[in-house]
Amino acid sequence: MPEFQNILDNICAQAKTTHDKGKVASYIPQLACMDINKFGIALLDQNGVLYSAGDTKDKFSIQSISKVLTLSLAFELLGEQLWNRVGVEPSGDPFNHLSLLEQENGKPRNPLINAGAIVVADVLVSQLRNPKQDLLEYVRKIAHDPTIAYDKSVAKSEKETGFRNYAAAYLIKSFGNLENEVETVLDFYFHQCSLSMSCEQLAYTFYVFANRGKCLKQTSYLNLSQVKRINAIMLSCGFYDEAGEFAYEVGLPGKSGVGGGIVAVHPNSFSVAAWSPGLNEKGNSKLGLQALEKLTTESGLSIF
Ligand code: DON
Repeated sequence: MPEFQNILDNICAQAKTTHDKGKVASYIPQLACMDINKFGIALLDQNGVLYSAGDTKDKFSIQSISKVLTLSLAFELLGEQLWNRVGVEPSGDPFNHLSLLEQENGKPRNPLINAGAIVVADVLVSQLRNPKQDLLEYVRKIAHDPTIAYDKSVAKSEKETGFRNYAAAYLIKSFGNLENEVETVLDFYFHQCSLSMSCEQLAYTFYVFANRGKCLKQTSYLNLSQVKRINAIMLSCGFYDEAGEFAYEVGLPGKSGVGGGIVAVHPNSFSVAAWSPGLNEKGNSKLGLQALEKLTTESGLSIF
């Protein structure tokens, strides 16, 4: 096994002294006040041993990372029928773009862009009895952590400035691919994005995707085929118009969020979460990307 702790300590030391940390997201006002100097990285290996360096217990808004968790729950509930509503191809566009949605009749390219996640949110609003509470319970169960919660101030802040998400949802609705009211679906979507978690909690949560669909206590949530497919979608779509770059530099399935978090998994080996609030121009954490590149280069562990 590589010396994970040494590698993480080096990554953290370097990140803390890097001058160019990118820019904190400001289009969601509540995210604009994050401390750009924060950095953490936590890795959970196959045997359940946790390694961490930096601010790994600080909670942050997981934002688009939540799209993998809603996808996982919707896939569990609907099975392959889910793909009648949303595709599995990379878009090559930024996360909030609308033009393909218009050209492709309201069927979003994949579940990890905003439009696709809104359709997945609609599926969950239809399928679940208490959508927000049921999603929270699902995440708490996978993570084995009953303290995980929504950050209501972030959800409210995003609703106030979520104009592009409203545009996407109404466009999808106009094509007949949204069963519920736009307000109801977006309320759920803004809440899922507001989930507040630390790097350590994310590493525990994403263990299920590294461990063939089973959580740390070996309860099964997804079958092998489903986990293969979700990991494939993370690899090809998890970083929007930077997905190729992430596969090239890091070589793992992963997902980013505008809160500055990035998760990645090495099937049968580890799950990892890095956090640095400064983003690059594509909306992905600048130091988070550099950290994961170093991790796979120095450990020699990527899927390729
Ligand atoms: O819908 C939005 O714009 C945000 N709640 C999530 C976007 C996001 O995290 C993009 N990821 N890098």
